[in-house]
Amino acid sequence: MVDVLKKVFLTPPEISGRVREMADEISRDYAGREILVIGVLKGAFVFMADLIRALSVPCRTDFIRAASYGAGTESSGAIVITKDVELPVEGRDVLIVEDIVDSGLTLLHIMDTLKSRNPRSIKVCTFLDKRKRRKVHFEADYVGFTMDDGFIVGYGLDFNEQYRFLPAVYVLEPASACAQEENG
Ligand code: PRP
Repeated sequence: MVDVLKKVFLTPPEISGRVREMADEISRDYAGREILVIGVLKGAFVFMADLIRALSVPCRTDFIRAASYGAGTESSGAIVITKDVELPVEGRDVLIVEDIVDSGLTLLHIMDTLKSRNPRSIKVCTFLDKRKRRKVHFEADYVGFTMDDGFIVGYGLDFNEQYRFLPAVYVLEPASACAQEENG
């Protein structure tokens, strides 16, 4: 058995068009300011690379990484920062960039962590939003696309660290029966 890329969910032109729209909206909102763009590793790196190059306002970039711990396939909600940002956050206009928001637990923890360092402002931009799977109340400020359930890969999103390089987003049917959990 092999993994099957069942169908294309988002084509490269659909992705680039929406990224351009998001970058235009963000550039308008931050006109005259410099953004500190913080990508959440690893999934966000492809989206972030396209997004920052489409901005018309200056930005500095940094990365943060978080892991969730719990029994079985469902997260317990215990989120730990495994790689912190390296630039100071205090007084900065921070924009956190994610590939996907699912339960919302990762971003809630990252937001709380960064807010405690007194940024001037803090917002979240996500490429995908699985709103129906929230376990906590969390709304992103900029959302590329919303989706329901399903396992997707490509454009930074992985399955077992594979498929991040794909330029489109695909619905994946994993070969392994134990791999039926959702992204996130
Ligand atoms: C994914 C995604 C978010 C998080 C969202 O990361 O990139 O960071 O899960 O899930 P949540 O809303 O339920 O907390 P993942 O842990 O798969 O790591 P990766 O980005 O390195 O693939």
